[in-house]
Order: sequence, then structure tokens, then C-alpha cells
Amino acid sequence: MNIETTIEGMPIPAHVDPRLVVDYDVYGDRRFFETGDLHEGLYKLGEEVGRGIFWTPHNGGHWVINSHALMFDAVRNYEVFSSNNKAARHGAMVMIPSMGGDEPIFAPQSLDPPEHGTFRKPLMKAFAPAVVARMEAGIRELARDMIAAIAPLGKAEFLSMVAEPLPVTVFMKMMGMPLERIHEFRDWMSNMASDDPANRAFAFGNIDKAMGELIRERQAKPQDDLISRLLAEDVGGRTPTYDEMQAYCLLLFTAGLDTLVNAFTFGTYQIAKMPELQERIRADRSLINPLIEEILRRFAIAMPPRRVAKDAEFGGATLKQGDLVMLALPAANLDPTAFDDPLTFNIDREEQTHMTFNSGPHRCVGSHLARLEMRVFFEEWFERMPNVYPDPAEPPTYRPGLNLTICKLPLIWEPVA
Ligand code: HEM
Repeated sequence: MNIETTIEGMPIPAHVDPRLVVDYDVYGDRRFFETGDLHEGLYKLGEEVGRGIFWTPHNGGHWVINSHALMFDAVRNYEVFSSNNKAARHGAMVMIPSMGGDEPIFAPQSLDPPEHGTFRKPLMKAFAPAVVARMEAGIRELARDMIAAIAPLGKAEFLSMVAEPLPVTVFMKMMGMPLERIHEFRDWMSNMASDDPANRAFAFGNIDKAMGELIRERQAKPQDDLISRLLAEDVGGRTPTYDEMQAYCLLLFTAGLDTLVNAFTFGTYQIAKMPELQERIRADRSLINPLIEEILRRFAIAMPPRRVAKDAEFGGATLKQGDLVMLALPAANLDPTAFDDPLTFNIDREEQTHMTFNSGPHRCVGSHLARLEMRVFFEEWFERMPNVYPDPAEPPTYRPGLNLTICKLPLIWEPVA
């Protein structure tokens, strides 16, 4: 590498304009600690350094896109912003920091068009609105049971009692995964979110083994579940190989076991801070859909990485083939050029173009399921729960990283008889 300058001893490549270098560590940015809030930390970053594209030398060095307009261009331009880490091996996922060539394959997330489309199609079918709509009654029953279990208590740690078991149970049932292993699986998810490649390798190894066993079982004896259906799907005129099934399962594991959990915790924490909003929604349930869209906008979760596939000029930056790029989707949703007063939680806002599910070829396949689960949950919540409040004795705890996470959310309320 041709070194020109450094921040705290960290190298900056010569092609990076020094004016675009920012001291930003996605796994522990100082602005998060200053504001005490992951999303406010990202907003503060935009206020301090501007919105566009910048380079950080942390975590091996990578670009960060934090403007709504640039994000919209970048996510469509897969010829420059590739999801595929060819430097590791064909199809491998881009990771920040790099796993030194041990990156796993996530189908279809770590593939580029046109190959990406071949593997995305079966998932589009499996997660189509009409298919997920059939899951509504089962989701409602689960939500009711979980809410009924906590309502008389007057206090609960919301993550472990509701936000985790509800979407994870729905997903594991859909996949045909053994429900008794839920805690083990969630523990692997925490390791996957680590900035230490060794922790991630540990998680991927375990997930590979567990999902591999399930794939073999379903190959031998198909059941009424998603793994069995994917085994019979058409991927370019044939069925998926064992390795391709592993790549599907790895992605589905990460998509199904984490993102929606965070949407529930961020959203419920926000409404817990707004008692008048809770009363307004209880009186008018038609506000649940705008509530969900504002939760999704204000609290986007994922910051997916990309790898520069060819040299390019983009947003005033000179990109070199092989550079890593982080798409700070939550920051794009907090860009004042796209959303007025973006930090304010306002269910009456009209702008709808949030980037929470991304946009372009990799737009989230699970968005219909995510919205359905959120709607059913909040319908049941407002039906059965009085106003809830953050527990003043125990503030929530967070985990920064490529997926913004609340780790603990104690809530209190008047016990329901
Ligand atoms: C609120 C909840 C969710 C959020 C915020 C979310 C967010 C995202 C984002 C940002 C992407 C794009 C990744 C990229 O560009 O590389 C994505 C892709 C994906 N999501 Fe979700 N997701 C959620 C729920 C789910 C659920 C419940 C599932 C399924 C169980 C799911 C399945 C997928 C799949 C399969 C992809 C890959 C699509 C592709 O590469 O073509 N997601 N999601």
C-alpha cells in the first residue's frame, strides 16, 4: 500500500483524498458514547463531517456512505459497488473488517446480478405477500400469548420476553429449525456481529454445522418447511447443491434471527418514551401502519458492506478496485435533505422513501414478513397493554456495529389484572 498520511498510526491509502478522512469506528464511535444513542451518534457524525462519502482508517480502512442521495445511486450501481468479495473467493460475502479470505457465501446477498437473480427468485416466491399473509393467525396467537404472559407483571425485560422470542420463533418454525436451540442460535448471532474475525469464524462454523445437519435431514425426508421447499427449487434449470443450500441457510439465519428483533426493541423503546402517542394509537388503530413506517425510518438497523469492483469516481471520492464500502442506511434515513427534522419521531410525516430495507437488486426479501409481524404485534400490544414506560432504574443497553442493536430493554407499566 502506498501510504501518504495516518490517523493515530492507522494507514491511509494514497488514492484517498486526506480531506475525506474521518475518525469513525463503526464498532465504537465516540459520537455514540457522547450521545448515548446509536442513531443519534450517526446523525451527529453527519452534522460534524457532512453527508456524502468519506474514508475511515478503522477496521482495516473503508469508505462510508451516509447521504440519502448518494446511497440511492450506490445501491443500484452494482458494477462498482459489488456485494461479492471476489478477492476472497467467488460468491464470498464482503465483511468489515475482512476475515482474511475466510468470508462465507450468503445466497443471494453476496452475489451480483445476473447470478444474484437466479438465487433471489426462490426466496421472492417464499416471502411473497400472499404466502406470508397465511402466517398471520399463527403470529397473532404467539404475540397474544407473550403479551398475556407479561401484562400482569408490571415490568419486564422486553427483549428477552417478547422482541426476541416472537420473530425468532416465527422464523425458526418457517425454516423447520429446532425451537429448543433458540438461545444457542441467538448466541451465535452475537458472535457474528463481533468486530473480531475469530468470533465470526466461530459463529459461522457452528451455523454451518447446525444448518448442514438440517439440510441433510430434509434431503433424506422433506417436511412442510422452507428448507425442504428450497431444496426442490429451480436455480437456473436445476435444484440447489448442498453448498448452495448452506449459502441460503447462512443468509436466512442472519436475516431471520436478528433484524426484526431490533425493529421491535427500537420501536417499543421509542413509544415507551411517548405516552401521548401511545394513547393516540390506542384510540385510533389506523395509525399503526404509519407508526411502523416511522419506526422503520427512524431506526434503520443494517449497514451492509460492499467491495469496489472497478476504479471509479463517486461523490467526489476516488475509489480503487478492492476498497471496502459501508452503506450506512440508518444515516441516510437521518439525512435532513431527505427528511425534515429527521431525528424527530413523527408518525404524521409524509416522506416515505426510507432506506431501511435497502433499495435496488438486494432490497430486503423479508420486508413483507417484517411489516406483517410488526403490524400484528402492535395491534395486539395496543389491544392488551396500558401505557408502558422505560424503567428509570435500568436504561437500555446498546451494541454498535454493522447491525445496530439494543441488548436490554427494561420496561414498566401498571400491572394488568
Ligand atoms: C425489520 C426487519 C428487517 C430489516 C431492517 C432488513 C433489512 C435488510 C437489508 C438492509 C437488506 C439488504 C442487504 C444488502 O443490501 O446487502 C436485506 C436483505 C435481505 N433480507 Fe432483510 N431485513 C429485515 C427482515 C428480514 C426478514 C424477517 C427476513 C427473512 C426471514 C429477511 C430476509 C432478507 C434476505 C433474504 C435478504 C437478501 C436479499 C438479496 O440480497 O437479494 N429480512 N434486509
